Amino acid sequence: MTEWSPTSWKAKPAAQEVVYPCEAEVDRVVAEISKLPPLVTSWEVGDLRSQLAEAARGERFLLQGGDCAESFDNCDSATIANKLKILLQMSLVLVQGAEKRVVRVGRFAGQYAKPRSADFETRAGETLPTYRGDLINRQEFTVEARTPDPQLMLRGYERAALTLNFIRALVSRGFVDPHRLEYWNLQWVKDSPMAEEYRHIARTIGESLAFMENLLGVHPGELRWIDFFTSHEGLHLPYEQAQTRQVPRQQGWFNLSGHFPWIGMRTADPDGAHIEYFRGIRNPIAVKIGPATTPQILKRLIETLDPESEPGRLTLIHRFGAGAIADGLPPLIEAARATGAPVLWCCDPMHGNTRTTETGLKTRRFDEILSEVDQAFDLHAANGSRLGGVHIELTGEAVTECVGGARRVSEADLSLAYKSQLDPRLNYEQALETAMFIAGKMKLVGRASHKR
Ligand code: PEP
Ligand code: CO
Repeated sequence: MTEWSPTSWKAKPAAQEVVYPCEAEVDRVVAEISKLPPLVTSWEVGDLRSQLAEAARGERFLLQGGDCAESFDNCDSATIANKLKILLQMSLVLVQGAEKRVVRVGRFAGQYAKPRSADFETRAGETLPTYRGDLINRQEFTVEARTPDPQLMLRGYERAALTLNFIRALVSRGFVDPHRLEYWNLQWVKDSPMAEEYRHIARTIGESLAFMENLLGVHPGELRWIDFFTSHEGLHLPYEQAQTRQVPRQQGWFNLSGHFPWIGMRTADPDGAHIEYFRGIRNPIAVKIGPATTPQILKRLIETLDPESEPGRLTLIHRFGAGAIADGLPPLIEAARATGAPVLWCCDPMHGNTRTTETGLKTRRFDEILSEVDQAFDLHAANGSRLGGVHIELTGEAVTECVGGARRVSEADLSLAYKSQLDPRLNYEQALETAMFIAGKMKLVGRASHKR
């Protein structure tokens, strides 16, 4: 293989490439971001890697979730705090229900670039570049707004820093202290069909904590309970390259724009620019795979991205759709096993289950989402493998974007609070219900494997 450098990707074909009006301006922005401090540290990246290695061995479960795309406008206190809350509450449900430690990873602080199926969009006879996320261009349908603007990379870096700064402050000062579970905004619980189940879980967590503290003789708040890690799709390579650093006393290069970047399905060509970039960074990384991934392609991806078979290095996020996973997944499990790499398997039950309603809204059915997760657990168990995580698009708000769930959101209800500009997300209640479902399933799978 040829020599790697943070810019060696430029010699390869890049899918989803952004064409800027002025390349010199791109270079100036990339140089400016390269001088700014990193958003995360290599020690944190190393911690996450160990936790993911544990997940691959079945000692933890990965919960990765957040918006399809963050927007610069929604970089506000309530949106960030609510996303943190729902992820934390889901993780507590998993810890309590499945009796397994959880790795918490947000799709946040950098999830600003989106792959698109078309390069151009036509409205009333006018054709303009598609909107590719706030990191690249703006939504408004005008030539100025849709022309890619390199300055937005700088704005994105700053927004990511602001988001992460707030998350770190909340996490370090007790906002996410499980003791305070009962004080969190549980407004929604009042009239939720799942209220009783959730209260029961909250009570049990409180009791277990009190028990542990008595046993260990520590006071509330003395233990550092919660780690949160960040992730985003490493789509826009100039931005990723700008934050690719060497660190004193450590070997190799790190992408310090987030802990856990992933390769999207549309950019996972083994010969493409994205794989070239990702093979050279030392972070734990993930790659999305699906119906278009053949066993041969998967083998090449694993051999290129994890040639040393390092624990925690590579996560495979499969996203087939509820109707396709049963046929699609087993050959890929076999192909991965043949490489000997200790990969972590994670199920994204969102992206293979997107459909469009008659009125043209993108939605997902809650029953199909749960069905894909349910099948994923069983298919891994039946094929001598293990599902070690889930990857979910969700929000902490009470939106109506996915149909179904305990409150039975119908297609007619979708327009009540449909806020996503891109993919439909689970709302607060649906996300929590998903966590309860997964916890229940993990208990069953765990019992079955004990009996074997
Ligand atoms: C996404 O995660 O928002 C996405 C575009 O997923 P995929 O690459 O799996 O289609
Ligand atoms: Co999405």
